[in-house]
Amino acid sequence: MRLFIDTGSVAEVEEIAAWGVLAGATTNPSLLAKEDGDPAEIIRRICDLVGGPTSAEVVSEDAAGMVAEGGALYALHEQVVVKIPFCKAGLAATHVLTAAGIPVNMTLVFSPSQALLSAAAGATYVSCFMGRLDDISIDSIAVVAEIIEQFRAGGITSQIIAASIRHPEHCVGAAKLGCEIATVPSKVLRQMLEHPLTSSGAAAFKRDWESRPEFGEWLAALTDDHAASAGRR
Ligand code: E4P
Repeated sequence: MRLFIDTGSVAEVEEIAAWGVLAGATTNPSLLAKEDGDPAEIIRRICDLVGGPTSAEVVSEDAAGMVAEGGALYALHEQVVVKIPFCKAGLAATHVLTAAGIPVNMTLVFSPSQALLSAAAGATYVSCFMGRLDDISIDSIAVVAEIIEQFRAGGITSQIIAASIRHPEHCVGAAKLGCEIATVPSKVLRQMLEHPLTSSGAAAFKRDWESRPEFGEWLAALTDDHAASAGRR
């Protein structure tokens, strides 16, 4: 499963892209509204930083407006994917944009039947919102499982994005089901780093190594020699 970052913050993308784990990004109007600066520059910068599909969302409520905004957003950067909210107009706009070769991420999908319609309209990505389903006591894992099952059974190639991720278990659950992508807020990506045994294990390795200062000198010299010989090549 590929990991995208779900944010409108360039600073967050800069930090987490440096980990080498990101394959793309998703923004939405609420996330971008929290940020200062020109949205076009923010979207372009995020595209450059992640070097992969980056969703930017339309806000018009009619199909013609969505198509016009989608074309303009797509022209911002080659990595832009046009994010369209699920609705009748959104389906029509998706059909037009995908026919023009513009990739669409259908967002705000909460049921297998909405996912089927999104795929039928041509969406490249279908975003199922796990956290918001759990918020209303609907088992998000069961919904994602059903979407995956029906896509696989029917040979549907639209990629499923597990979205509205609230904790690491959402990611692990989506990955176990075979979801292609999870789009994850930076807070959850940071939580995914943590395990108390990792911290205590690293502290013990450091303590034991430092108890033998001559070993530290040996490794520093080895590293310097290697860098010098690599520089001569
Ligand atoms: C997906 O692309 C959305 O931007 C996002 O996952 C929404 O998550 P939320 O429910 O935390 O707002």
